[in-house]
Amino acid sequence: MTAPTPLNANPLLERLGGYPLAAFQDLAAQLAADGRPLHDFSIGDPVEPTPAFVRQALVDAVPEVSQYPTAAGLRGLREAVAGWVARRFGIEVDPDLHVLPTAGSKEAIFHLPLAIVDPHAGRRHVLWGDPGYQVYERGALFAGGQSDPCVLTDEGGWRLPLAELPPDRLTRAAIAWLNHPHNPTGATLDLDGYRSALVATREHGIVLASDECYADIHPPDAEPPASLLQAAGADSADPDLTGVMVAFSCSKRSGMTGYRSGALVGDPDLIRAQRILRPNIGTASPSFVQEAAAAAWRDDEHVAERRATFHAKREVLLAFFGEAGIRLGGSQATFYLWFAAPGGDDAAYAEALLRHRIIASPGSAFGAGGAGWLRLALVPSVDGCHEAVARWRQAITAADLPGHATL
Ligand SMILES: Cc1ncc(COP(=O)(O)O)c(C=O)c1O
Repeated sequence: MTAPTPLNANPLLERLGGYPLAAFQDLAAQLAADGRPLHDFSIGDPVEPTPAFVRQALVDAVPEVSQYPTAAGLRGLREAVAGWVARRFGIEVDPDLHVLPTAGSKEAIFHLPLAIVDPHAGRRHVLWGDPGYQVYERGALFAGGQSDPCVLTDEGGWRLPLAELPPDRLTRAAIAWLNHPHNPTGATLDLDGYRSALVATREHGIVLASDECYADIHPPDAEPPASLLQAAGADSADPDLTGVMVAFSCSKRSGMTGYRSGALVGDPDLIRAQRILRPNIGTASPSFVQEAAAAAWRDDEHVAERRATFHAKREVLLAFFGEAGIRLGGSQATFYLWFAAPGGDDAAYAEALLRHRIIASPGSAFGAGGAGWLRLALVPSVDGCHEAVARWRQAITAADLPGHATL
């Protein structure tokens, strides 16, 4: 008798391994077990409460009989997203044609290629910037596409120069991902940057996908980050969203990481394809989550408060980095700080910090292009940031971290 096919036979699982940052969650849990303070800047899951009115909206919407949600989502939520897009970017989108609620932006990013990439076609590459969010690559591969990472650099501002890529790389691409404000570097992209990327992708028939889940998290006094929707919407009342898809999220904007709610906004044909695809998957958020998300998108005041809080954390870290001579890259937006590893080795520096119970993510966890850099997610409280900085300073003074002259 021949041996049965092994279970878990999809080679991608073996090849990709677990989700890279899951290791940090495990580590943080282990370190936290002894009850001593831990300064965890690794996972982008903030500690500020979800606004009370959002929680109330969810509670109020829990029905006596809870039925299957539809792929198209609640119209009220689609309208709320369209309303926010109009207020935030000055672009009018149609809630029925251009907007699709999603269960967070991660699943939307992962599933997007399933409706776009033909696994048997020559044109099945997915371009993304390395270092970057791993889900662009993973979504491409699980959909039968090819991952085509483009190395980003500090000199290039951690921006993906799509328009400068060789033509053969563009002709084989089905999707190109942009992500600003950028994870892990916090870099932003101006409107001209989006415009030139759009010219390049339209010329080559590539879907330009833009992950803008951090769109609302920026220094309060800075110009709010631009959107691909603005680049496509030269006529703001009737934007041409052909070949364009943008992912947004309630997670960071409204402190709703646990709710799992986001939205895709873009090309009506691509949105329609997602509506056809999604009942096969069954990822639609429950209606009570959608009601809470609608309340969150309708309100901007709580977002301004969250922005101020993240800004306060950023100021604490920036002052310390200045004092310690730590060099920043990117970091124009607020949610992440990206810094060059003192001594040059990101893993060694992360490990040394860990001995002082400070968890920073080594840049190489986000792709080979992140080597030599580290990411801080500004998730501890403002007080927690002060405590972490005090600990960090002590470690430098004790000459216990590589690559520093003593303070
Ligand atoms: C760049 C980027 N995109 C998307 C996500 C997913 O966010 P969510 O699924 O919570 O909307 C994250 C989460 O950290 C992220 O960093």
